[in-house]
This record gives sequence, structure tokens and C-alpha cells, in this order.
Amino acid sequence: MVENSKKVFIKNFGCQMNVRDSEVVCGLLRKADYQLTQDSEDADIIIFNTCSVRQHAEDKVWSGIGNVVKKSGKVHKAAKSQGRKKPIIGIIGCMAQNYRDQIFERAPEVDFVVGPSDIDKIPAILARIIDHKPQAADRQIYQLKIWETDGQLRPENIYHTGFHEEKEHSYVVISEGCSNYCSYCVVPYVRGELHNREFKDILQEIESSVKSGITKITLLGQNVNAYKSGSVNFVKLVNSVDRVEGLKEFSFLTSHPRDTSEVLFEAMAECDKLKKNLHLPVQSGSDKVLKSMNRGYTRKFYLDLADNYRKIVKGGTLTTDIIVGFSGETKDDFQQTFDLVKYVGFDAAYIFKYSPRPNTEALKWPDDVPKEEKEHRHAVILDLQKTISKGKNAKI
Ligand code: 5AD
Ligand code: SF4
Repeated sequence: MVENSKKVFIKNFGCQMNVRDSEVVCGLLRKADYQLTQDSEDADIIIFNTCSVRQHAEDKVWSGIGNVVKKSGKVHKAAKSQGRKKPIIGIIGCMAQNYRDQIFERAPEVDFVVGPSDIDKIPAILARIIDHKPQAADRQIYQLKIWETDGQLRPENIYHTGFHEEKEHSYVVISEGCSNYCSYCVVPYVRGELHNREFKDILQEIESSVKSGITKITLLGQNVNAYKSGSVNFVKLVNSVDRVEGLKEFSFLTSHPRDTSEVLFEAMAECDKLKKNLHLPVQSGSDKVLKSMNRGYTRKFYLDLADNYRKIVKGGTLTTDIIVGFSGETKDDFQQTFDLVKYVGFDAAYIFKYSPRPNTEALKWPDDVPKEEKEHRHAVILDLQKTISKGKNAKI
């Protein structure tokens, strides 16, 4: 192992899964004697944990890298004090998987690229880069470029370093990847097929977190409802977590309507420690669009689920995700989404403009809702949701 007083700064983009992954990487690096810093100017190593869910998410990362590079050699304290032009820069997460070694072409300053299923290799990669003795001609820069994007399964031990960013709350990954293949979604291509962690490993992680002072947890997966390990399905897992001694509160993210049922709602109503929040992305209110999105449910199925949730989980909140301007979405399709949002009365809705993504099925179809029309539909639903949310707050 490298002798080490090197400081690492991790900049996180994207979803809660990435928040947890950054924490996992911090845990692994701490074990390898790296120090963590909140100040990028003070860091010897800067890691960007990236998101590919929409073009906008990727654009933010590219400009983030650009900013670090611009500062390099001019004001970057840590690199300058060590006679280097720039800190070591790593790109990890979904964009790493999406672009692989092409990242070096667009951003030559990047030293390593590591996909979501290879994060366990980061300490060894850093050791190789740091140990690398540059030739006289390139003494000022790190010449070695490393990319690891072929991993299939994460080793279980990465979840057990005991490192938590927050004192009382932790995220617990129950499943990685996704096998739903919604036609717009990049996740199966960057995070791989659904893989469930073993029930005993999840419980062990929760129990030892609770022993170390954690009182609240969030169970994480792209589609938690599809969880299965031996005879344990998601409802059984929820019931077991509810019985963990010392745990005060827990919740879960994200649910897929196709795999959600009244059985889960009954468990939600019965589990004392479970927060009564359900995030159930609907994506569209039009049957035609739902079909082309490959969501596996109809508008009626979703509406029945929402009604039953409210009946069974008294006082529970319901939130959703919506995509406007998907390929082929007509004014009438959009109107159906509008009506659905109005009917259900979500507590919050996250509204996104459709963004074509590499490898996905929908990439083959025309992105035929003009930009201005997407923006208009986005604004209309946002306005509606604001009115609904205001009304709800007033009632409380
Ligand atoms: N374009 C726009 N929004 C998307 N989402 C996922 N993929 C895309 C895309 N290609 C949204 C979905 C999902 C949320 C996390 O991001 O609404 O639920
Ligand atoms: Fe998370 Fe999906 Fe973005 Fe990856 S692409 S960081 S899984 S939201």
C-alpha cells in the first residue's frame, strides 16, 4: 500500500445511489489511509462521481472538470505545492461507464475512469498512478491513464467499511442495476442488470450501522419492489428491517408501479418505523406513451394503485417523476398526463424534459417534440404541481 498523507475530494452528481457510492469510495480510501477534504483546492486527488440520466447532468460534469482544469497550475494549492500542474483527476460513476476511455479524448487531464461496478478497484488504481515515475519529459504531469469499466458484480465487502457521511442516517443499497429497460433510460447500460444483495448481508450492514449510532436508514435500489433473495421478497425485507432493534425510522427508494401492490401498502401501514412516504414514478398519464416507454402498466393500473395507497396508508405522502416531451407525445397525450397529475394530487412531482440517451431503445426514434414545446409542457405541469402543493400545505 502507498504511504499516504494524500487528500481526496469527491464531487458528487446524480441520485441517492451516487451519494451512497461516494460514501463507499470514501470508506475504501480511508481504509487505505487517504484523508478526505471538503476543499477541492486542497486536494491531491479530485474524483467526480457522475450521472448520465439526462444530457443536462452530463453537461454539468464536463463543465465541473473544465473548472478544475482551468485552475490547475495557476491557483491549485495542493498540486502547486508539490510541483505538479494539476491534481490527479478521476471520473467514476455512470458517465465513466457511458464514455469509458473516450473520456480521455474529451478531457485529457483526466487520469482514471472507473465504472459503477469497479469502484472497489479505486485504491489500487490510485496507488499505481501515484507510484508511477514519470519520465523527465513529463515530470510535471501524470502520464498514466487507467480505465476500469468491465466489472460485473461489486464485491460485498465494499458496503462494510463502516464509513458514513452523516451521523444518524445512512443509505443502504439493497439492489444494484436494473433490468426493466424503460425505453428512455440509460441505467441498465451504465449500472448493469438487476443484482440483489443477499438478505443476511443487508441486515448485517443495518445492524452494525445501528450499533455505531445510526438511527435512520433509507433502503436504496432502482426498483426496490423487485427485490428477491432466496425466499425473501421486498415486503419480507421491510418487515425484517422494522424489527431491527435500535433503529428508529426507515424509508425506501425507488418504487416501480409494475412491481408495487396492495400487499406492500399493508406492510407500510403496519410497520411502525417505516416512514409513510411512497415515491412512485408515473412518467406519463397516456397509455400510448406508457407503452412506448415500456413501463409495463396502464394509466388505470397506476390510478388504482394511488387510490389504494391513500386508502391503506392513511396520511401517507405520494410523490412522482414525470417525463414531458417523450418521443411521439402529442398534445392529447400530454393532456392526459396533466389530468392524471390533477386527479392524483401528488405531494411533490419531479418533472423532466425528455433527453435522448445513448444505447436506449428510444434513441432510435425521433426526438420530435420541439424544445420550446417541451419547455412549455414542463412549465405547465410545474405550475399545476405548485398549485397542488400550495393547497396541501395550506391544509396542514
Ligand atoms: N430523459 C428525461 N428524464 C429521464 N429520466 C430518466 N431517464 C430520462 C431521460 N432520458 C427521469 C425519470 C426517472 C428520473 C430519475 O429521471 O423520470 O424516474
Ligand atoms: Fe443515478 Fe441514474 Fe444518474 Fe446513474 S444515471 S447517477 S443511476 S440517476
